[in-house]
Amino acid sequence: MRKVKTLGLLGTGVIGGGWAARALHYGVDVIAADVKPEMEEWIRGAVANAEPALARLTFAPLPPKGTLFFTTDFKMMAQRADFIQENIPEQLPLKQRMLAEVSRQAAADVVIASSTSGLTPTDLQRDMLAPERFCVAHPFNPVYLLPLVELVGGTKTAPATIEAAAKFFTYIGMHPLRVRREVPGHLTDRLQEALWREILHLVNDGVATTGELDESIVYGPGLRWAAMGTNLIYHLAGGESGMRHMLAQFGPCLKWPWTKLEAPELTETLIDRMVEGTQAQAAGRSIRELERLRDDSLVAVQQVLRQYNIGAGATLRALEERLYQDAAAAGPVSALERGKPLRLVDAVVRPEWIDYNRHMSDFRYGQVFGDAMDSLYRRVGVDEAYRATGRMYYSVETHLMYLGEAKAGEALYVTTQLLAVDEKRLHVFHRLFRGRDDALIATDEQMHLHVDTAQAKATAVDPAVRAKLEAIRNDQAGLPRPHEAGRSTGQRH
Ligand SMILES: NC(=O)c1ccc[n+]([C@@H]2O[C@H](COP(=O)([O-])OP(=O)(O)OC[C@H]3O[C@@H](n4cnc5c(N)ncnc54)[C@H](O)[C@@H]3O)[C@@H](O)[C@H]2O)c1
Repeated sequence: MRKVKTLGLLGTGVIGGGWAARALHYGVDVIAADVKPEMEEWIRGAVANAEPALARLTFAPLPPKGTLFFTTDFKMMAQRADFIQENIPEQLPLKQRMLAEVSRQAAADVVIASSTSGLTPTDLQRDMLAPERFCVAHPFNPVYLLPLVELVGGTKTAPATIEAAAKFFTYIGMHPLRVRREVPGHLTDRLQEALWREILHLVNDGVATTGELDESIVYGPGLRWAAMGTNLIYHLAGGESGMRHMLAQFGPCLKWPWTKLEAPELTETLIDRMVEGTQAQAAGRSIRELERLRDDSLVAVQQVLRQYNIGAGATLRALEERLYQDAAAAGPVSALERGKPLRLVDAVVRPEWIDYNRHMSDFRYGQVFGDAMDSLYRRVGVDEAYRATGRMYYSVETHLMYLGEAKAGEALYVTTQLLAVDEKRLHVFHRLFRGRDDALIATDEQMHLHVDTAQAKATAVDPAVRAKLEAIRNDQAGLPRPHEAGRSTGQRH
């Protein structure tokens, strides 16, 4: 299977738009095909809407963004794409026909995947040419922020197809879940539908409103689910003897049963209750507004989970490791960076970084400069493996000048100039710019000392790391020394 430089999308609605935003963000070009020409404007809007949240997910160095090309000619898309993701309406005959047509245009080593929520791959691949390169790749809305993608093969799917798909989706920051056996609804939608059916019953029977049922999840199980699934959570609920005790205690209830298997009839009354209930919950907020709130929360949750290396946070951590490795593999100074300070961090001012003046708090400036230092360290090989050898740079001195302000949501970037490197010391100068007008809003001069962490003593840096640092310093040798460097506190400008 080939390396994926261009993702082809068939159908550019909610899900196609989400795929486009995710792929472009991680540097993959996208050719998006839809029968309706007006979908071009829609998909460009969807990508732009996704960007603010995506931009906040990680500070790790990203490759240049991919480019988006829209067409109504699906054949052209299929001939040019390295991987094709189908996202047209959930109708079996339509999907079968279009997948068959697409398979006649695409080279045999191009994986073709379907976003279907519940149709089975054996049915979908029935009329395809080279059906062994087909699988289901079921994502979740918003595709650009939720890492889960269920991979399901049909009877004709080659195992190599699933592996190639898993590799591509991991590359764009996802968690591929290989579903062992095809079943209608795959795994997640079976679970979601079971919950949804009970919600419909409880609303239909007048037991609860949609809002009360959402509360019953959001304040309780929903919080646990982000870190651990139902099974591990129930194992904990059983006390010392875990799941065995849990089953003994609550197993009998399964026979009563508490829940109803069949979905209720979707009568007009039930539909009205569901619609009115959710409108009351929205409380006048538009879909766009609620989407932003959802996206901001999803970013924040994943960042917290990353600290514990659990669930989607572990996926984010692994993605960041790879992004840093890719950046380091490009060498200490890439062709585009020659003779300039290194641009090591691109960030967005997060809402929680704001102080009572509605501007970024002073200590957050230091945090952003710390992120620039982390990025520099990774680039020269001072990473987790290096730290595990008991060596690290410690900050010993810093002089931060506050020159301007930034508001929530504003883009920032940091550039870094190496002033001096020797056996033990590293002297750097960072500048923080506001993206909107490229205004310099802070500078930070720092001295770092290389230490043996076990002995807590200064020690010589690894020669390979020093060589990379010197390569950066030599590349920047022609840059003027920043006039703020070496300044003392309170000195006049
Ligand atoms: N919406 C979700 O939450 C969700 C989640 C996961 C998976 N899915 C699955 O993703 C698929 C798409 O769902 P959606 O919600 O994006 O639907 P959608 O209605 O928003 O988008 C479908 C798009 O396909 C286009 N289309 C229709 N026929 C076409 C054809 N022959 N060629 C090219 N384009 C065509 C339509 O013009 C439309 O833009 C479905 O299979 C659905 O089950 C949806």
